[in-house]
Amino acid sequence: MRFVDLRSDTKTLPTSEMREAIFNAELGDDCAGEDQTVNNLEELAAKVLGKEAAVLVSSGTQGNLTALLSHCDRGDEVLLGRQSHIFRAEAMGASVLGGIALMPLNDDEGYISLEEIEQSIRVNDSRYPNTKLLALENTHNGSGGTPLSKAYLDDCSDIAHLKGISVHIDGARLFNASVALNIKPSELVNSIDTVTFCLSKGLAAPVGSLLVGDKDFINKARRWRKMLGSAMRQSGIIAAAGIVSINMMIERLKEDHLNAKKLANGLNNIPGISIEVEKFQTNMVFCSVDNGKGEWLTETLSDKGILVGHVGNSVLRLVTHNDISSDDIDYTIKSIQQILLDK
Ligand SMILES: Cc1ncc(COP(=O)(O)O)c(C=O)c1O
Repeated sequence: MRFVDLRSDTKTLPTSEMREAIFNAELGDDCAGEDQTVNNLEELAAKVLGKEAAVLVSSGTQGNLTALLSHCDRGDEVLLGRQSHIFRAEAMGASVLGGIALMPLNDDEGYISLEEIEQSIRVNDSRYPNTKLLALENTHNGSGGTPLSKAYLDDCSDIAHLKGISVHIDGARLFNASVALNIKPSELVNSIDTVTFCLSKGLAAPVGSLLVGDKDFINKARRWRKMLGSAMRQSGIIAAAGIVSINMMIERLKEDHLNAKKLANGLNNIPGISIEVEKFQTNMVFCSVDNGKGEWLTETLSDKGILVGHVGNSVLRLVTHNDISSDDIDYTIKSIQQILLDK
């Protein structure tokens, strides 16, 4: 049976170049800074984002957690979106392990309003926690992969820095944003203090994320990484694939975006499906199935080997990635059309 997995870009498998790079990687003990492949990856990641330093961590969740623990002390507060991955789907690790308060703001459309950010930064008063950090997400997953513009990020940074707080980006899909906005990644995050980005997801590596920032911050983060148990040994086998991700997989994200656009347009022509085509600028497409039949359609599609995500009863979430071809998109559109026609 044909198999088309549109549930997430986390489903990508490593490319043959990655498998070869892993096989040939020069390895050493990274806890002692002796894994040259990890050192090369960290240097490359810092360079691509125009920052001083980077540290390899095991996952996006761990990168964000390490960042929040490094920025904040116990009792400090982080402003972030209520739809953000850090708030919704990282088990409140920063609160559980770091005693950090998370203050959710409205980001339903991807952007938190500048007014809300400004008003939410607390004055120094012993009754309140100290607001220490603004954490943004780019692209913004919950709103459909919205890329946050450089102008917006710069405005956020101006407000935050003026009030003495730092800005972190959960950039699990940062390169989807830079490609969609047609801007160099280093330029996009120029005003931002720290960034986590993932090698897995759209960049297709099997494991790993990087936390990037200035040298002092990354040194602090290395201590937290050790405490969290993610200082690894011959982690060059992870880094080798990550180097291929950065060198070969960023520009091709354009193809995922084109496939997502094609999918959105195709779905828009199917009676029984509602979709805001213009909303989807990167590799995610959300649509509603009339009469709350999302769960039913998801199950029926899976019988045909097409896997999609669903949010609640009526909304489907479809994500394009390296293992999805333009032909897979045609097959998916035709299958949905047929299923809804036959029902
Ligand atoms: C926006 C965003 N941030 C962070 C993460 C966490 O990444 P990981 O699954 O590697 O922990 C994800 C995972 O899908 C994500 O979508």
